[in-house]
Amino acid sequence: MEHPHTFKVIIADESHFPYAEAICEEMEESAKARGTGIAKRSPDYIRQKMQEGKAVIAFSDSGAWAGFCYIETWSHGDYVANSGLIVSPTFRKGGLAKMIKRKIFDLSRQKYPNAKIFGLTTGLAVMKINSELGYEPVTYSELTQDEAFWAGCKSCVNYDILMSKDRKNCMCTAMLYDPQDHYEPAETIEYFNQNARGLERLLNYKRWKFLQPFLRKDREQEKKKGGKGLAGAITGFFINLF
Ligand SMILES: CC(C)(COP(=O)(O)OP(=O)(O)OC[C@H]1O[C@@H](n2cnc3c(N)ncnc32)[C@H](O)[C@@H]1OP(=O)(O)O)[C@@H](O)C(=O)NCCC(=O)NCCS
Repeated sequence: MEHPHTFKVIIADESHFPYAEAICEEMEESAKARGTGIAKRSPDYIRQKMQEGKAVIAFSDSGAWAGFCYIETWSHGDYVANSGLIVSPTFRKGGLAKMIKRKIFDLSRQKYPNAKIFGLTTGLAVMKINSELGYEPVTYSELTQDEAFWAGCKSCVNYDILMSKDRKNCMCTAMLYDPQDHYEPAETIEYFNQNARGLERLLNYKRWKFLQPFLRKDREQEKKKGGKGLAGAITGFFINLF
């Protein structure tokens, strides 16, 4: 089905400060709706990214805010993350995330030509988009080891899982583009297409496997209290996922 909107995707600046609140709210709402974790961002942080020319913002043909994404640098600029991708629900499934990711990727390459570009995601849509840009799935050990980056995960609901895995794994899948050593997008998209079902199963498996110890702990605690507690909430969580 053809999407009824066309979009303008541009590098954000100070004139876009008034959108910072709405962007943060949508990031949080979307994470809640998906039942997934997210590293929280403040409107001030979003404004800072706009001011530094390290963010991309999208508008619909009617001028409504439609999407956003920003750049973060780690390990003294050796690594770049394209984070905080969000598309306003009204404008989803029309190719906008793809346009935003392409723009922020090109901006990252221009600003930091030697940096490795990476992302963490729990979503198949983003994995697909990243594959089209030439990213490949990697282990966490290939990402920045900058403490400040991992500290950003503290505000995510899955932080306990990350720490219980010694920061080697979590709900998110890591993907990386290394300018010095990378596959061509045609190759990474072929890999994605051939493995999409397996990758989706992996995402689901992680959700199931990584949550088990926490579910067990919760069940034991709740048994003592005689209640239903988080286990009931987790059932809702799984219903949201599938
Ligand atoms: C994920 C998100 C950014 C996708 O935005 P979008 O504009 O709808 O994505 P696009 O239309 O560009 O779709 C890109 C591809 O992913 C696919 N896709 C989109 N949403 C999908 C979903 N929920 N599940 C599986 N595939 C999906 C599309 O079909 C498209 O593939 P195609 O090229 O074969 O048609 C948007 O749903 C969103 O903002 N979600 C909440 C925040 C979020 O999850 N951010 C990512 C954090 S890492």
